[in-house]
Amino acid sequence: MQLYTRSAGEGLPVVLLHAFPMSSAMWLAQREGLSSVCKVITPDLRGFGGSVLGEDDPSLDVMADDVARLLDHEGVDRAVVGGLSMGGYVTMAMCRRHPDRLRGVILADTKAGADPEAARSNRERIAAAVLEEGTSVLLEEVLPGLVGQTTAQRRAMVFGRVRGLVQAAPPTAVAWAQRAMAGRPDSFDTLRALKTPVLVIVGEEDEITSPADAGAMAEAVPDGRLVVIEKAGHLSAIEQPEAFNRAVSGFVAELAGGIGESPSRG
Ligand code: MLT
Repeated sequence: MQLYTRSAGEGLPVVLLHAFPMSSAMWLAQREGLSSVCKVITPDLRGFGGSVLGEDDPSLDVMADDVARLLDHEGVDRAVVGGLSMGGYVTMAMCRRHPDRLRGVILADTKAGADPEAARSNRERIAAAVLEEGTSVLLEEVLPGLVGQTTAQRRAMVFGRVRGLVQAAPPTAVAWAQRAMAGRPDSFDTLRALKTPVLVIVGEEDEITSPADAGAMAEAVPDGRLVVIEKAGHLSAIEQPEAFNRAVSGFVAELAGGIGESPSRG
């Protein structure tokens, strides 16, 4: 499985894994804004964008192994690996399965807890609906929660872009990813054992993975920092790209031992 990948810049490799149900297209502002400070590597996770789905059973571990193979392919021994929401779940699977490949970790608008039973059955309902009727259920039920109230009320262009990204999601990938996310384990023990620095980012208006979820992850890891982004919801990297990029470039500077504006310790 070879992931379709867009990259920009030179220097410390920083892999950014996209949210559900999106693709690497969501990281446009990060490829543009961070390419002067690091090498930004943004794959399409399997089934999304330009990557094929393959035959494996749904699993975030499979997605994490795809990313490890991508690092091999890029000739990268260790990278900063980060992800937003579903991308964060895949990043935590990387922490479990490939900790030796991590130079640093970024967990954005995501959470470490497993799904309760009600959330798991809701995912199965959405998976079945999407396979039967197409992605309209995502526009009705998932899209409204993806952005914060500031974006929803004042930034029609940004909301329209998010809508376009959701509409482009292939139904088979959507169903596969929902089932993969439903099966994910609790990751708090993994976070407690992490030996790499961790940057946690959250939009202050995120209602899917809240600032409290972010605080819990930043506290669990031995070496964590927390950045809360104002006027952003769940898709903080799209809604407030400059603030998001500032947090990431401060972290990259810190890891590289350079002088940078470091996010405050959590
Ligand atoms: C995402 O943005 O990737 C999703 O909200 C993750 C989820 O459904 O838990």
